[in-house]
Amino acid sequence: MQEFILGSDVMHSMMKVVYEVAQYDVNVLLTGESGTGKEMLAKIIHLQSPRAENPFVPVNCGVLSGLMFEDKLFGHEKGSFTGAIRREKGCFEMADKGTLFLDEVSEIPLENQVDFLRVLEDFRFLRIGGNELIEVDVRIVSATNKDFKDQVKRGLFREDLFYRLHVVPIYIPPLRERKTVIPRMVDHFLNQLAANYKKPKPPVKREVIDIFCRYDWPGNVRELKNLLERVFIINDDDVIGMEHLPSDFLWHFREPPRMTDLEEVKRAAETQAILDVLHRLGGDKERAARILRISPRTLRYKLNKYNIKVDRRGEPVPGDMLSQPGERLSLRPLYH
Ligand SMILES: Nc1ncnc2c1ncn2[C@@H]1O[C@H](COP(=O)(O)OP(=O)(O)O)[C@@H](O)[C@H]1O
Ligand SMILES: [Mg+2]
Repeated sequence: MQEFILGSDVMHSMMKVVYEVAQYDVNVLLTGESGTGKEMLAKIIHLQSPRAENPFVPVNCGVLSGLMFEDKLFGHEKGSFTGAIRREKGCFEMADKGTLFLDEVSEIPLENQVDFLRVLEDFRFLRIGGNELIEVDVRIVSATNKDFKDQVKRGLFREDLFYRLHVVPIYIPPLRERKTVIPRMVDHFLNQLAANYKKPKPPVKREVIDIFCRYDWPGNVRELKNLLERVFIINDDDVIGMEHLPSDFLWHFREPPRMTDLEEVKRAAETQAILDVLHRLGGDKERAARILRISPRTLRYKLNKYNIKVDRRGEPVPGDMLSQPGERLSLRPLYH
């Protein structure tokens, strides 16, 4: 198991709860934004529990509905539906004596929630097309990055099932609320990368750590880890400096131009607003136009006129906008 970096009092208290609850078969609900470490903590709970020797089975509840959901969780008998060419166990059976990790649990479709709750009450169920009652011994850990209570309030999630899963809630704060851990994480991930890629670990310049501490990391620890991997792989120098950071990362810190020419001011303001909206909407130009209250045609015209380029996810494609990233840094995130 990889080391879970704590680095702050809040995280130490959270970890104490994790270790305590690990000992008991109580249902744990991990909440926090994507990339904060929920799945890793679920594994730690399993490994610290008396079930550690038995399977840990993760299942993503966000991608399944109806019969597919039932099939994934409870399995099926041979011939129970077209394509069921042999008996197949579901996640509950696979996790027998171990831990079932229900990721994105708040996404379980409403239509599946009643049956699901029933199984959580007595851990007995039928495979699809089966008539033999299967009984399993499973510990449930679930996770969500949604405002779960709000889902309940809006009628998207049954309250009784919510309380069943929510016996011990554990909240993992986003990385931007515990930035003091960033230097340690950088060190930790570079050690890991050096070991994985069998390459020496480069030292990191102070200004790189500084800029990391100014950034808000909407993708949390996952985003930091992925960025370091990118930088580590392409870096051939013996130290990591600003010049090694990708320009799409540096774009978040670009300096707004100081101008007196009104046409230029207008161009810069419009460019920024367009980029901001496209970035937030993941590149959806139709919706962006609606939010900007212009027609899609006008948006296309402006993109063209101002030479704004974005990729399919709405991230700006660095080019004319940011020709020399290092020189124009204001160290002030404008977005997120
Ligand atoms: N505190 C931490 N220490 C070390 N690695 C971490 C930590 N938090 C997250 N990670 C790493 O970040 C990535 C995302 O974590 P994950 O558990 O998948 O997040 P989530 O399930 O909340 O989206 C994983 O590669 C995980 O190993
Ligand atoms: Mg996850």
